[in-house]
Amino acid sequence: MSTVLVIDDDVNALKLLGYTLRKVGFKILLAQNGFEGLKKAEEHIPDLIVSDLMMPRMDGYEVTRRLRANPKTRHIPIIILTAKSQVQDKVAGFEAGANDYVTKPVMPAELIARIKAQLAARPAVAAPTPLQARARLVGFVGAKGGVGLTTLLVNIGLALQKSGKDVMLVDFKSSGGNVCQMLGHAPNNDLLTILRNPSTIVTPDDIGRAMMRHTSGVTMLPPVHGVYARYHPLDAKQAKAILNIVDANVDYVFIDLGNAMTQAVTSALKICHQICLVTEPNLLAFDQARRITQYLSDVGLNSNNLGAVLINRSRTGHGFTMSQIKDILKIDVWGIISPVPELAHQATQAKTTIVELQPNHIVSQQFEQLIPIFTSNS
Ligand SMILES: Nc1ncnc2c1ncn2[C@@H]1O[C@H](COP(=O)(O)OP(=O)(O)OP(=O)(O)O)[C@@H](O)[C@H]1O
Ligand SMILES: [Mg+2]
Repeated sequence: MSTVLVIDDDVNALKLLGYTLRKVGFKILLAQNGFEGLKKAEEHIPDLIVSDLMMPRMDGYEVTRRLRANPKTRHIPIIILTAKSQVQDKVAGFEAGANDYVTKPVMPAELIARIKAQLAARPAVAAPTPLQARARLVGFVGAKGGVGLTTLLVNIGLALQKSGKDVMLVDFKSSGGNVCQMLGHAPNNDLLTILRNPSTIVTPDDIGRAMMRHTSGVTMLPPVHGVYARYHPLDAKQAKAILNIVDANVDYVFIDLGNAMTQAVTSALKICHQICLVTEPNLLAFDQARRITQYLSDVGLNSNNLGAVLINRSRTGHGFTMSQIKDILKIDVWGIISPVPELAHQATQAKTTIVELQPNHIVSQQFEQLIPIFTSNS
């Protein structure tokens, strides 16, 4: 059910409008002047606002301007309602930031149709403020489960943050990944609360509530978790909307996309600047990796910004030369991580990363050596 805030100084008009809109199923908030309207808009973040134009102390133009100036409310569609019908008034309304203009006397059917049109047309996410610097988005995909993808992502993420960049780790793994747990945070379900209603616009505020910060300064966006993910999976539009919000706040966004190519994962991959395919050095994992690269090419992604990182978790030598691996995978190989089962286990137990636990270890250096792959040309 969409919530509509109606702002009008005329009490009778206000009640009538409220009654009309309630009857067709909208949830209604009423405000008798501009100040009250702004307060309720910020408090309740309605789906749409209908505001009268001529009101004492603060008119509808000013209400619109202030709503547009506030990051919390700037995405809300606004319909201005007025007895005036001259063209210049309409222009002034649109210039102040109104989305539509309805002249009084209002025909209920017309107002309802215009409200519905605005609600249908609204973008999935508030338009980003112009001139914001955008982050570099790097998607991490696993050739299969359990290859060490999340370990790689959090270690490079922390190493990059330490080098002075702002990094955000976003967990889009479809069955609920464990980026947050690896860094000692219990994932909250705030993202779930946001996504439960598919018509909800994901706002920067929602993301702000769901985000968590690690002591290193890295920020994390937890996934929709475990069993809930099955009933409330992230959809393609939401995934894109979320990335559009977070990329305004940091230098790098590393996205854990897991190993299932869902619609959300695919839509995220399409806006990534780089894709890191994580695999093990064995024939089975290579086979899976090739299926993924085929899929990426099928959905129209070129392989220029795609590279593989191999994680050799077992001490048994893998027996492949670098050129053999390149021949098999047919994409760039960005790096190989050596086996460190004890250290990986120790880091998991301590709810930290290998780079934090043993910064001088050869594997920490291998993670750090991958940083220029993501920072060059960005
Ligand atoms: N270089 C390494 N050497 C040995 N073990 C490692 C190494 N890197 C990661 N591991 C271990 O491998 C296991 C899987 O790692 P991780 O959870 O990062 O993989 P994943 O691909 O994200 O898995 P999932 O598909 O479950 O999300 C973990 O126990 C981790 O500690
Ligand atoms: Mg993982």
